[in-house]
Amino acid sequence: MKRLDGKSALITGAARGIGSGFAQAYINEGATVAIADVNLEAAQQTASELGDAAYAVQMDVTDQGSIDAAIGAVVDHAGKLDIVINNAALFDASRTADITRDSYDRLYAVNVAGTLFTMQAAARQMISQGHGGKIINMASQAGRRGEALVAVYCSTKAAVISLTQSAGLDLIKEGINVNAIAPGVVDGAHWEHVDAMFAKLEGKPLGQKKAEVEASVPAGRFAVPEDLTGMAVFLASSDADYIVSQTYNVDGGQWMS
Ligand SMILES: NC(=O)c1ccc[n+]([C@@H]2O[C@H](COP(=O)([O-])OP(=O)(O)OC[C@H]3O[C@@H](n4cnc5c(N)ncnc54)[C@H](O)[C@@H]3O)[C@@H](O)[C@H]2O)c1
Repeated sequence: MKRLDGKSALITGAARGIGSGFAQAYINEGATVAIADVNLEAAQQTASELGDAAYAVQMDVTDQGSIDAAIGAVVDHAGKLDIVINNAALFDASRTADITRDSYDRLYAVNVAGTLFTMQAAARQMISQGHGGKIINMASQAGRRGEALVAVYCSTKAAVISLTQSAGLDLIKEGINVNAIAPGVVDGAHWEHVDAMFAKLEGKPLGQKKAEVEASVPAGRFAVPEDLTGMAVFLASSDADYIVSQTYNVDGGQWMS
C-alpha cells in the first residue's frame, strides 16, 4: 500500500522545477496528478514524461475562470480532488526606490491572490465531496524575513504563511489540512533567472550570487526538488491529519523557527 494510493492531486506551476518534482513523488506514491500550469505546452511535455498517472491542465492562477475550470477538469478526469499544492509563483528583485507597481501587481496576483483563490476553489470542491483533503502552500525562507532587494517577493511569501495559518484554522473544521513548506534555495531554471537579476543589480559576474548563496547554506549546497518531496508527501498523507496551519522549513538549516 502506497501513501497516496487512489488520491487525486492538482499541483499549480508543475510544468517544471519543484512542482514537477512533487508530481513525480506523488505518482510514485500512487496518486493521479494534474500538471496545472499557465504554460500548457510545457505542462503537456512534463505530463507525457511522467506517464499515465499525470495529465496536463491549462491553469492561470490569476484568473478566477481558469481556476474554476482547472478544478472542474480534475473532477472530470479523476472524479474528485483530494490534494492541492499551490506552487506557482513569480520572483522579482530591485532596489526599494525602483519597485514598480507592475512588479508588485504581477507578484501579488500569482503568489498571494493565486494561492488564496486556488485554495478557496479547492476547499469548496473538497467540502462538497465531504471527506476532507490536503492543501499545501509554497512559502519560502524569504517569507520569514526581509531581504534588501527582494521586498515584494518576501512580502508575498509572508502573506502565504499568514494565509496558511488563517485558512488552516477555518478549514480543519471540514477535515481539510492546510499547511505550507518554506524551502531555502532550490536549484533549477528559477535560480538562473535570480542569479542573472542579482548580477545586474549588484554588478556581479554571472554565477557569483549563486555561489555566494550556496556557500551560506549550512547544509553546504543548494537543494534539489527531491529534498522537498518527503515533506510534500508527508503533508498530503494521513500521517499529517493532526497537523494544522503550520509552515515547515526545508532549507538545509537556513532558518530556525
Ligand atoms: N527555487 C527556489 O529556490 C525556491 C525557494 C523558495 C521557495 N520557492 C517556491 O517554490 C515554488 C516553485 O519554485 P520553482 O523554483 O520550481 O519555480 P519555477 O519558476 O521554476 O516554476 C514556476 C512555474 O509556475 C508557472 N506559473 C507562473 N505563473 C503562473 C500562473 N499565473 N498560473 C499557473 N502557473 C504559473 C510557471 O509556468 C512555471 O512552470 C514557488 O512557489 C517558489 O516561490 C522556490
